[in-house]
Amino acid sequence: MVGSRIATVLDAFNGLTPDPSWAFLDLTQKQTRYATHGYHRYPAKFIPQLAARLMREYSHEGDLVIDPFMGSGTTLVEAKLLRRRSVGVDINPVAHLVAHAKTQAIEPARLAHAQNRLTERLIASAQPNLFEPPNTNLPVNAEWHERLRYWFSESTLRQLARIQHAINELENEDERVFFNCALSHTLKSVSYWHDRSVKPMRKLDKSIPDAFEVFLRHAKRMAQGNREFWNLLCERDALNIPALPYCTDARELPVADETAALVVTSPPYVTSYEYADLHQLSVLWFRWASDLRMFRERFIGRSNSVHGSSDEMNSPLAERITAQIMETNSRKAREVALYFAEMLACFREVRRVLRRGGYACIVIGNTHLCGVEVQNAQVFTEQLTALGFSIERVVLREIPSKILPRTRDKATGKFAKTHDADYVAYPTEYIVIARKQL
Ligand SMILES: C[S@@+](CC[C@H](N)C(=O)[O-])C[C@H]1O[C@@H](n2cnc3c(N)ncnc32)[C@H](O)[C@@H]1O
Repeated sequence: MVGSRIATVLDAFNGLTPDPSWAFLDLTQKQTRYATHGYHRYPAKFIPQLAARLMREYSHEGDLVIDPFMGSGTTLVEAKLLRRRSVGVDINPVAHLVAHAKTQAIEPARLAHAQNRLTERLIASAQPNLFEPPNTNLPVNAEWHERLRYWFSESTLRQLARIQHAINELENEDERVFFNCALSHTLKSVSYWHDRSVKPMRKLDKSIPDAFEVFLRHAKRMAQGNREFWNLLCERDALNIPALPYCTDARELPVADETAALVVTSPPYVTSYEYADLHQLSVLWFRWASDLRMFRERFIGRSNSVHGSSDEMNSPLAERITAQIMETNSRKAREVALYFAEMLACFREVRRVLRRGGYACIVIGNTHLCGVEVQNAQVFTEQLTALGFSIERVVLREIPSKILPRTRDKATGKFAKTHDADYVAYPTEYIVIARKQL
């Protein structure tokens, strides 16, 4: 019986061929970074046009759209442009800062004025000896300074402190959010972080550019994006459409029962990106966490978890996958089981907030761990069906190589450089479109 249920789900996926209309292969980088989409780098970002198409096909103006794994806020920006209200959630404070900055349009003349004031203050400011990050919840202690010195030179730290000081002096919150986002984006290029590495790796002989120049240049580019966003929203009479990003867990959405028409999201993958590690420069600078290990525990898809229960996955296929991995690597098998159990809890929350007849569009690729194919899309399909969703449609789409790394290390399952990777990771991905039953 269980075997035939697995076979039915797999058969439905096996017959799929890529739908070229969902690949967006003809889009240029400029088009995918239009308006505020180019504010900040973020791994595994949505193509904005993909999120927009899903919203056009599965919701109406005025509807409430949710993204429980909002990342950099692509869904929220597109929802606002399409006159849909939106709520986004992410456990990563960096995602929250970026989504907050990207969804607010600042009146361009006011932003230009703030930019001039900030530049003047930067040039004129005496060098403060104290760092002044905006979050004062955590103490500024010796350990914090030491970790900063691991990543930044003394002269860069002094420049960053002056930038932060000038930002903190701005009187309007939206301006501070805008420039903190620019500062967060600047950190990687002015640190010892190896530019070509997605992992936290130092390159001590890196030639470090001037932090003021990098920051001001990026803020200028962002201001052009803000102007484009502002103009589009004015044209569409959408300036006041709410787009609300929260820094919280996808299992606790700040949304009332049965109020959302649509969920558009791309969940994290199991043991691929360690978002907590990747964004550690911003987490460190803004003092969003003092203990990176505990901070990591809140992320779904983490490796080396010390907490969490994987009792319930509600998917025979997930059981089979974890049993296969267990044959060679019990730790990885536990991580995969925990991932599927935590994703099930997220889907329960999605069902709670969706109104009857509402749609959930989940964008997810399959991957490999320890030689076993981890069929995320098929497992999610089983889990959603068990929760009372009907599967309306599954789209197979090709992923342009610029958007996602294509290769993985076989042993760890983590993304790897092309030359030392074992195979292509996911040149295609699925869009699973499920409907909450009436
Ligand atoms: C694939 S990314 C989403 C990218 C997004 N679509 C975009 O366009 O930027 C997955 C996100 O899930 C977030 N995440 C991981 N665990 C989470 C949790 N427990 N609750 C909410 N978000 C979580 C990660 O921080 C990451 O930003």
